[in-house]
Amino acid sequence: MRKKIVAGNWKMNLNVHEAKLLFQEISAIVSKDNGAHEVLIFPSSIYIESLLNINQSSIEIGAQNFHHQNKGAFTGEVSAMQLKQLGCKWALVGHSERRTIFHENDADLLNKLKAALENDLQVIYCCGESLNERESGMYFEKIGEQIGLLKTLSQNEMNHITIAYEPIWAIGTGKTASPAQAAEMHDFIRTKLESIFNLEVADSTSLLYGGSCSPQNAKDLFACSNIDGGLIGGASLQANAFGEIIAAI
Ligand code: 13P
Repeated sequence: MRKKIVAGNWKMNLNVHEAKLLFQEISAIVSKDNGAHEVLIFPSSIYIESLLNINQSSIEIGAQNFHHQNKGAFTGEVSAMQLKQLGCKWALVGHSERRTIFHENDADLLNKLKAALENDLQVIYCCGESLNERESGMYFEKIGEQIGLLKTLSQNEMNHITIAYEPIWAIGTGKTASPAQAAEMHDFIRTKLESIFNLEVADSTSLLYGGSCSPQNAKDLFACSNIDGGLIGGASLQANAFGEIIAAI
């Protein structure tokens, strides 16, 4: 059975006091809720250790980014090995902000996938098309290519991969994909996983939706059979809103 997951990607937001307070507020919500789903938080990496230290809930903490080498002369970088040692359980790979703003290409992403898996981190691998690709009808092709990057992973490695479909035109824009648009793409991704791997991998991989997911639209999105949860940006910065999204799963 694949897992239901609600993940908060805090991006480069919050000061340390705000981060701890928000984490405690979300922890209190998660502790009261005994649903069979996982809640993950991806804070700025400098806050990971403090949040792990105060964590008394079932929330798991992940890293938004890391370098694919375990150690070495890479000034300013943090490795998957270091994050794992700290107590991190998850990492994001392929977020559109990393692909576009930081020019991470397929080779970089593959290196990161391998590094995360070798260090026993669970990965949320993100994919998503631009507005131009959506409007020109190229979206299945684009997502097909991005999912195709996973083809060199083994079935065992795929057990550690969750996929997030985040259309770039919906990220931070308030313009969410309709449940029909999201469901259509999630159905496509699951079919693609079956063609690359097999039915078992396709059925057991959790597929999250991300892009202006809010308390207002989460229920309808999560009602789609192939949407197993969400990767939430803006709404994860408010405990109440994030709590309502968790409740919607
Ligand atoms: P928003 O929820 O702010 O649109 O961000 C989505 C996202 O990029 C999560 O990774």
